[in-house]
Amino acid sequence: MAASAPASASAEFPPAAGIPPSCLHDVFRAADALERETGRPVNQLHVGEPSFRMPPEVAEGLTKAITDGRTTYTSAEGMPRLREALTAKLETENGHHTTPDRVFVSPGSCQGLAALLQSIATPGAELLLPEVHWPIHLQQALLAGFRPVFYPLRADLGVDIERLADVSGPRTRAIVVNTPSNPTGAVLEEAELRRLLALAEEHNWYVISDEAYEHFVYEGQHVSLASLERDLPPDRRRVFSTYSFSKSYAMTGCRLGYVVTPNDVTASALRVVQEASIIAPATPVQYAGLAALDAHAAVRRHREMVRAARDEALPMLVTAGLLDALPAGGWYALLDVGRTGMDANTFAEGLLAATDVAVAPATGFALRPVVDNTGRVTEVGSLPMARHLVRVAICGDRELLCAGVRALVDFASQR
Ligand SMILES: Cc1ncc(COP(=O)(O)O)c(C=O)c1O
Repeated sequence: MAASAPASASAEFPPAAGIPPSCLHDVFRAADALERETGRPVNQLHVGEPSFRMPPEVAEGLTKAITDGRTTYTSAEGMPRLREALTAKLETENGHHTTPDRVFVSPGSCQGLAALLQSIATPGAELLLPEVHWPIHLQQALLAGFRPVFYPLRADLGVDIERLADVSGPRTRAIVVNTPSNPTGAVLEEAELRRLLALAEEHNWYVISDEAYEHFVYEGQHVSLASLERDLPPDRRRVFSTYSFSKSYAMTGCRLGYVVTPNDVTASALRVVQEASIIAPATPVQYAGLAALDAHAAVRRHREMVRAARDEALPMLVTAGLLDALPAGGWYALLDVGRTGMDANTFAEGLLAATDVAVAPATGFALRPVVDNTGRVTEVGSLPMARHLVRVAICGDRELLCAGVRALVDFASQR
């Protein structure tokens, strides 16, 4: 947990020290400790690391850039050639009509998200986040100085759009939408996204659309929010979109993503943040990105591998009553282990100790920080509904996933 602020928090107590660290680090540490202690490998179902590898032509693009000496700085927004290729990809694959000067290459979409939040934050402004969310979104909101406000999900973990307006107010500046979602696996349909965008227009919110899992939809299809405002003049657009090379091309360690800003004003704000934060994204990695954009067959193959793993492993969890339905997209399934009588942390610890299978308790995906009027986190609670949820990653090796799920179901049924 984060260090809590002293009663009279002073300048010596940096606000960032009060922000909760990602819960995933606790699981990583526990899994590492067990491996060291027993010498046995842990079945790592807590982590979104794929079993497939970066396509060889992408690795070649990376190494060739290095051996050719293409290792100098580019501009803060990235190489023009890559941004042009991304603009073409956005048009053909995402229906997103934009220009290269609104596209920013970033060292992972994570950094792009953090930078874009920083570029739009204003003192005291509120950011709407899903009540169960990727923990990094919460950290980024707090670091940028936003006050997080959480919006409700339906029982099936989709966004409860009709109740969005209930949690917003005059200080709401933006809403984060993540489809397909980490950790819920929910995929928003076009009609829902249209309704959400209409609300954003009505209340004058920016929309931040995190599409890191755009290529991993198994039911329905991925709709990019920005495609729904493609016919508006840029100065009336409000959607920021973020995309990642990590998932589609198995490039997690390369750190490559991109942000698309709605118009020139928002682009110039983000440019300043990027100049000050990164100077420029890594040049050889940008060449790898150029090669990746042609690797369409690899993307299809990767999606089918995760789908096959989902279809083979997860029905066991549905039969065991731990999962209502297969996730429609993404790399994760969110299980409810409440019927075992254990909370998520106890379940995850017990499962690891008894079976060498690591899963992520979802308490940390639903934290509720209390923020004082200076913007400091003074206390961190969690959403009661998440106390029985655990996240299982489905992107890893299919046999290991099936073995891990079998062990999990046995463990749950013995309780
Ligand atoms: C929802 C979501 N957004 C963004 C990211 C960041 O991806 P990257 O920084 O590797 O592009 C992740 C990574 O797990 C994620 O789950």
